[in-house]
Amino acid sequence: MKTLGEFIIEKQHQFPHATGELTALLSAIKLGAKIINRDINKAGLIDILGESGQSNIQGEKQMKLDAFANEALKAALEARGVVAGIASEEEDHLVIFGKDKATHGKYVVLMDPLDGSSNIDVNVSVGTIFSIYHRITPIGTPITEEDFLQSGHKQVAAGYIIYGSSTMLVYTTGCGVNAFTYDPSIGVFCLSHENVQFPSTGNMYSINEGYYSKFPLGVKKYIKYCQEEDDATNRPYTSRYIGSLVSDFHRNLLKGGIYIYPSTAQYPMGKLRLLYEANPIALLAEQAGGKASNGTKRILDIEPRKLHERTPLFVGMESMVNDAEKFMAESI
Ligand code: AHG
Ligand code: MN
Ligand code: MN
Ligand code: MN
Repeated sequence: MKTLGEFIIEKQHQFPHATGELTALLSAIKLGAKIINRDINKAGLIDILGESGQSNIQGEKQMKLDAFANEALKAALEARGVVAGIASEEEDHLVIFGKDKATHGKYVVLMDPLDGSSNIDVNVSVGTIFSIYHRITPIGTPITEEDFLQSGHKQVAAGYIIYGSSTMLVYTTGCGVNAFTYDPSIGVFCLSHENVQFPSTGNMYSINEGYYSKFPLGVKKYIKYCQEEDDATNRPYTSRYIGSLVSDFHRNLLKGGIYIYPSTAQYPMGKLRLLYEANPIALLAEQAGGKASNGTKRILDIEPRKLHERTPLFVGMESMVNDAEKFMAESI
């Protein structure tokens, strides 16, 4: 049995010039995940279900656990002294850590502390998503928004934690994807899925079909394609939608499928946020042999303009994303 801690240190030793700072950062995320996991598990008992009464900058009602997860992860990341600051779905602006850390921390982290919060109160899987970059501004100066507005292909590492029937941490540092299942009896994440790759065939499509009438024509046509019968391509596909990006992506990664959140009449730029939802999921998808696009363009090549920018997202098996893109291109 290999623990996440051992795995991270093993990887660090493969890079002779590594300073151990990324190891410390990943270990902070591991600690934050354990704290969030503990409280999600007993949320119904300690009065942290339901809405907090506040809204976040996206105009979404914040759940108590959104705010709790944000604080837990922020504290864990600040404590290690290797992160200069964070950006989060639940923070209006970037957060710069204490003076010394702001000048000396080498990394910035972007995060969706709790993904799928509408599922919390009904005991359905939720997640945490993180994205890690080297800061661009020189060490010794304060970090700025420029450090956070980097294209996804510059990510140093990215991953998610899924709080499901078991809790798992899935991450990449750009050398494949590895997944670790949490053993609560010993409080340790253990390597359970080494070098995860999308299967070569799959038949799941995940999209909120309730918004069908508001979708672009290409997406409507692709959904119809998924529903048509064709033995050669194993159609009709199976529709699966949890309403939590992490859970939907995780299932499609293991079983083979595509997740789509396109532009809609309500959300002309889609609903998902580029920097802390689409980019980290896109890096994982590519590292697992899949593909992520906004319908026409690679997610990881988008130049971000603001912290809470949204993007349409088509992510999953490469062949399925290619098909969806084809329908989009034909319907312009
Ligand atoms: P979050 O809970 O972090 O705000 O993210 C919610 C996102 C994503 O997880 C999910 O796939 C999507 O919103 C669901 O949206 P709809 O309810 O519009 O389908
Ligand atoms: Mn939200
Ligand atoms: Mn989310
Ligand atoms: Mn969230």
